[in-house]
Amino acid sequence: MNDSITEVINKQINTDADELARQRKCIEIAAQLVEDKSRNTGRDITYHVTTFGCQMNARDSEKLSGILEECGFVYEPDELAADVVIFNTCTVRDNANQKFFGHLGSIGAVKKNKKDMIIGVCGCLSQEESARAKILASYPFVDLVFGTHNVYDFARLLLIVLEQREAGEKGTVTSIREGTDRIVEDIPVKRNYPFKSGVNIMFGCDNFCSYCIVPYVRGRERSRPAADIIDEIKRLAADGVSEVMLLGQNVNSYGKGLDENISFAKLLDMVGEVDGIRRIRFMTSHPKDLSDELIDVMASSQKICNHIHLPLQSGSSRILESMNRHYTKESYIELAQKIRERISDISITTDIIIGYPGETDADVDDTIDVIEKVAFDGAFTFIYSKRTGTPAASMPDQVSAQKVKYNFDRVLARVQEISARQAAKIEGRIMDVLVEDVNRQDPSLVTGRLSNNLNVHFPGDESLIGKIVNVKLTQCKGFYYIGDIATGGDYGKVL
Ligand code: SAH
Ligand code: SF4
Ligand code: F3S
Repeated sequence: MNDSITEVINKQINTDADELARQRKCIEIAAQLVEDKSRNTGRDITYHVTTFGCQMNARDSEKLSGILEECGFVYEPDELAADVVIFNTCTVRDNANQKFFGHLGSIGAVKKNKKDMIIGVCGCLSQEESARAKILASYPFVDLVFGTHNVYDFARLLLIVLEQREAGEKGTVTSIREGTDRIVEDIPVKRNYPFKSGVNIMFGCDNFCSYCIVPYVRGRERSRPAADIIDEIKRLAADGVSEVMLLGQNVNSYGKGLDENISFAKLLDMVGEVDGIRRIRFMTSHPKDLSDELIDVMASSQKICNHIHLPLQSGSSRILESMNRHYTKESYIELAQKIRERISDISITTDIIIGYPGETDADVDDTIDVIEKVAFDGAFTFIYSKRTGTPAASMPDQVSAQKVKYNFDRVLARVQEISARQAAKIEGRIMDVLVEDVNRQDPSLVTGRLSNNLNVHFPGDESLIGKIVNVKLTQCKGFYYIGDIATGGDYGKVL
């Protein structure tokens, strides 16, 4: 490696601005290497980033893609055909891990005949020591492993791998931090959609729900200063974004630990004032921290979408206590009813875990009771997955697979029945739809989203993508709608 590159890579960094400048320098050097390679081979040098996890994971993937594009790599839709493949992993449940190791096995077979390929692994699974050890021992063809706290450092890490290649050296470059003192956010981003974007408002989680691995792999909760968030949203709006999704593991506790005195509700107000932003969503709300102030802001705002994702996890107060959730069956129902009373037509969706240690049929009856009383508009139902290192993993009374299946099926049946009934309530109405895509199955249709998060398919073409269109909801199909353009909205206007 030449001395000036070594100096950039190893430079002592004192401020976020210095770090940003260093990352830009790394991108510049990498871009030169990629350009040379492209010239020598007479073709584009390509990349693929595979996202395995939640919205926060997806947002990190957009950052990784942004950096790769700045380096001159060209997007390749087929994971197995790309020159650089980055796996952005998730470890919240075991099936996410399995899926990733499946992909890793397939790519290993491809790399046998394509030695030039660069394979990187990042995301939440990389933060787990045991998973890292498994990768290093059983998948030595992986070139780079890094974690959730150093996504911003990706350009530098990639450059180290590229330089190793130039020098003919082998070995996996590994860089994991257990926490971060930096929130370097102004790195390049390649958005999946031109008109909507996730925005991180906080990182990490301090709640330590007994079953959950996220606090261990994402580290301590840290909020971003409001001014930085608003600046980012202004830039997004100027770049054509009309819908933002504010992201955090527990957005309701936004502001804790900041010097300024600010709540999540105040932040929402500030976001609502940004010109060009027409829809605001957020994920995820923890029921224990949901304030009346937030309900007021949601009720009065024209821009905040009519949807709240409010994970229940269980309807049994006994299980909730063991889960360390800090609310009861009764307080959850009361909260949901208050939200429904204050915000008409609001959609309330949830997450439910079945098979948590010690869960009995009677506990699941309680969960079903909450499903009925709250009338969820949608629910993700998960089978409990034992995560090593969490308190629940070592609890006695792990539930048998047979019992889990029985209870999972009856919860799912109830959820589907009730959410279909809820969805049907707006049949025949005319509502705003933000058009997201041409329909994949039927290209004479476009697909968009209602404020309440339901999908709608209706006749239209590509020119509508990113526009808000008034659509008559003609036919409810359970969890989505078929509709027809009505007059009004952006449609027909020159924007
Ligand atoms: N921060 C969010 C959820 C993040 S994880 C919140 O607290 O609501 C997304 C969902 O995965 C959780 O709501 C939970 O339902 C589920 N989940 C987390 N750990 C799990 C585990 N060990 N087994 C099964 N589901 C789990
Ligand atoms: Fe996990 Fe609980 Fe944190 Fe959500 S709030 S990420 S479920 S520990
Ligand atoms: Fe998965 Fe990490 Fe998100 S474990 S759910 S990608 S925070």
